[in-house]
Amino acid sequence: MLITDRERLRDDIAGWAGRYGRERSSLLPILQEIQKKYRRVSDHAMQIVADLLGIHPIEVYGVASFYSFLSLTRQGKYVIRLCRTISCDMAGKESVAQQLRNDLGIGFGQTTPDGMFTLEWANCLGMCDQGPAMLVNDKVYTQVTPQQVNDIIEQCRRAVSVFATHNKEH
Ligand code: FES
Repeated sequence: MLITDRERLRDDIAGWAGRYGRERSSLLPILQEIQKKYRRVSDHAMQIVADLLGIHPIEVYGVASFYSFLSLTRQGKYVIRLCRTISCDMAGKESVAQQLRNDLGIGFGQTTPDGMFTLEWANCLGMCDQGPAMLVNDKVYTQVTPQQVNDIIEQCRRAVSVFATHNKEH
Protein backbone atom coordinates (compact mmCIF):
# COMPACT_ATOMS: atom_id res chain seq x y z
CA MET A 1 0.00 0.00 0.00
CA LEU A 2 1.27 3.43 -0.89
CA ILE A 3 1.84 5.79 1.99
CA THR A 4 0.73 9.31 1.14
CA ASP A 5 2.83 12.34 2.02
CA ARG A 6 0.26 13.32 4.61
CA GLU A 7 0.40 9.91 6.25
CA ARG A 8 4.17 10.00 6.26
CA LEU A 9 4.09 13.44 7.88
CA ARG A 10 1.66 12.22 10.51
CA ASP A 11 3.80 9.14 11.23
CA ASP A 12 6.93 11.23 11.53
CA ILE A 13 5.31 13.68 13.90
CA ALA A 14 3.82 10.88 15.99
CA GLY A 15 7.33 9.38 16.20
CA TRP A 16 8.81 12.66 17.41
CA ALA A 17 5.96 13.14 19.87
CA GLY A 18 6.79 9.66 21.16
CA ARG A 19 10.42 10.64 21.58
CA TYR A 20 9.98 14.10 23.11
CA GLY A 21 6.69 13.53 24.90
CA ARG A 22 3.31 15.11 24.44
CA GLU A 23 3.79 18.07 26.74
CA ARG A 24 3.89 21.73 25.77
CA SER A 25 7.65 21.71 26.30
CA SER A 26 7.95 19.19 23.45
CA LEU A 27 6.50 21.65 20.99
CA LEU A 28 9.76 23.32 19.99
CA PRO A 29 11.87 20.17 19.53
CA ILE A 30 9.08 18.60 17.47
CA LEU A 31 8.83 21.70 15.26
CA GLN A 32 12.62 21.65 14.82
CA GLU A 33 12.49 18.04 13.63
CA ILE A 34 9.75 18.92 11.15
CA GLN A 35 11.82 21.84 9.90
CA LYS A 36 14.92 19.68 9.54
CA LYS A 37 13.20 16.96 7.53
CA TYR A 38 10.62 18.93 5.54
CA ARG A 39 12.43 22.30 5.35
CA ARG A 40 9.32 24.06 6.55
CA VAL A 41 6.46 23.77 9.02
CA SER A 42 3.30 23.58 6.94
CA ASP A 43 -0.25 24.36 8.08
CA HIS A 44 -1.00 20.66 7.97
CA ALA A 45 2.01 19.83 10.13
CA MET A 46 0.94 22.45 12.68
CA GLN A 47 -2.54 20.94 12.79
CA ILE A 48 -1.15 17.45 13.44
CA VAL A 49 1.14 18.74 16.19
CA ALA A 50 -1.77 20.57 17.82
CA ASP A 51 -3.90 17.39 17.73
CA LEU A 52 -1.16 15.22 19.17
CA LEU A 53 -0.21 17.60 21.96
CA GLY A 54 -3.82 18.53 22.68
CA ILE A 55 -3.23 22.26 22.23
CA HIS A 56 -4.77 24.89 20.01
CA PRO A 57 -3.28 25.30 16.49
CA ILE A 58 -2.90 29.03 17.18
CA GLU A 59 -0.44 28.19 19.92
CA VAL A 60 1.58 26.05 17.52
CA TYR A 61 1.47 28.82 14.93
CA GLY A 62 2.63 31.34 17.54
CA VAL A 63 5.76 29.32 18.26
CA ALA A 64 6.43 28.39 14.61
CA SER A 65 6.22 32.00 13.47
CA PHE A 66 8.22 33.39 16.41
CA TYR A 67 11.49 31.56 15.86
CA SER A 68 13.45 32.66 12.83
CA PHE A 69 14.95 29.20 12.31
CA LEU A 70 11.47 27.77 11.78
CA SER A 71 9.93 28.59 8.45
CA LEU A 72 6.32 28.48 7.33
CA THR A 73 7.33 28.47 3.68
CA ARG A 74 9.63 25.90 2.19
CA GLN A 75 13.28 26.84 2.50
CA GLY A 76 16.15 26.05 0.21
CA LYS A 77 18.39 23.06 0.69
CA TYR A 78 21.02 25.51 1.91
CA VAL A 79 19.91 28.32 4.19
CA ILE A 80 22.51 31.08 4.24
CA ARG A 81 22.26 33.50 7.16
CA LEU A 82 24.49 36.54 7.21
CA CYS A 83 24.94 38.41 10.48
CA ARG A 84 23.80 42.00 10.25
CA THR A 85 24.61 43.07 13.81
CA ILE A 86 26.98 45.96 14.45
CA SER A 87 30.42 44.27 14.62
CA CYS A 88 29.82 42.34 11.42
CA ASP A 89 28.35 45.43 9.87
CA MET A 90 31.54 47.34 10.60
CA ALA A 91 33.65 44.41 9.41
CA GLY A 92 32.16 44.71 5.92
CA LYS A 93 29.04 42.59 5.87
CA GLU A 94 27.49 44.76 3.13
CA SER A 95 30.02 43.72 0.48
CA VAL A 96 29.41 40.08 1.43
CA ALA A 97 25.65 40.68 1.25
CA GLN A 98 26.01 42.23 -2.21
CA GLN A 99 28.05 39.27 -3.43
CA LEU A 100 25.41 36.88 -2.12
CA ARG A 101 22.64 38.80 -3.89
CA ASN A 102 24.64 38.84 -7.13
CA ASP A 103 25.66 35.20 -7.08
CA LEU A 104 22.25 33.88 -6.11
CA GLY A 105 20.13 36.40 -7.98
CA ILE A 106 17.79 36.84 -5.00
CA GLY A 107 17.37 39.23 -2.11
CA PHE A 108 17.34 38.52 1.61
CA GLY A 109 14.21 36.68 2.69
CA GLN A 110 14.00 34.91 -0.67
CA THR A 111 14.66 31.42 -2.04
CA THR A 112 16.16 30.62 -5.45
CA PRO A 113 13.62 29.21 -7.94
CA ASP A 114 15.47 25.87 -8.04
CA GLY A 115 14.94 25.51 -4.28
CA MET A 116 18.68 25.33 -3.59
CA PHE A 117 19.35 28.46 -1.53
CA THR A 118 17.48 30.66 0.90
CA LEU A 119 19.07 33.92 1.93
CA GLU A 120 18.34 35.34 5.39
CA TRP A 121 19.68 37.94 7.76
CA ALA A 122 20.76 36.77 11.20
CA ASN A 123 21.40 38.64 14.39
CA CYS A 124 24.68 38.23 16.27
CA LEU A 125 26.04 34.70 15.92
CA GLY A 126 28.52 35.14 18.76
CA MET A 127 31.53 35.52 16.45
CA CYS A 128 31.74 39.30 16.67
CA ASP A 129 35.54 39.49 16.76
CA GLN A 130 35.75 37.46 13.55
CA GLY A 131 33.17 39.18 11.39
CA PRO A 132 31.60 39.15 8.94
CA ALA A 133 30.07 35.93 10.21
CA MET A 134 27.77 33.71 8.20
CA LEU A 135 25.94 30.44 8.71
CA VAL A 136 25.28 27.93 5.94
CA ASN A 137 22.81 25.50 7.49
CA ASP A 138 24.67 24.54 10.70
CA LYS A 139 28.15 25.50 9.55
CA VAL A 140 29.68 28.78 10.68
CA TYR A 141 31.99 30.81 8.46
CA THR A 142 33.97 33.74 9.86
CA GLN A 143 35.85 36.66 8.30
CA VAL A 144 33.93 35.99 5.14
CA THR A 145 35.09 37.82 2.03
CA PRO A 146 33.10 38.33 -1.19
CA GLN A 147 35.50 35.96 -2.96
CA GLN A 148 34.81 33.28 -0.36
CA VAL A 149 31.07 33.65 -0.96
CA ASN A 150 31.65 32.50 -4.47
CA ASP A 151 33.60 29.43 -3.34
CA ILE A 152 31.06 28.50 -0.66
CA ILE A 153 28.17 28.63 -3.13
CA GLU A 154 30.12 26.59 -5.65
CA GLN A 155 30.89 23.97 -2.98
CA CYS A 156 27.19 23.67 -2.16
CA ARG A 157 26.27 23.31 -5.83
CA ARG A 158 28.97 20.70 -6.36
CA ALA A 159 27.87 18.75 -3.29
CA VAL A 160 24.33 18.57 -4.66
CA SER A 161 25.39 17.48 -8.16
CA VAL A 162 27.79 14.82 -6.76
CA PHE A 163 24.93 13.54 -4.61
CA ALA A 164 22.55 13.51 -7.60
CA THR A 165 25.07 11.64 -9.80
CA HIS A 166 25.77 9.18 -7.02
CA ASN A 167 22.06 8.50 -6.60
CA LYS A 168 21.59 7.98 -10.33
CA GLU A 169 24.37 5.41 -10.40
CA HIS A 170 22.90 3.35 -7.56
FE1 FES B 1 28.07 39.39 13.92
FE2 FES B 1 28.24 39.18 16.58
S1 FES B 1 27.91 40.93 15.43
S2 FES B 1 28.55 37.67 15.08
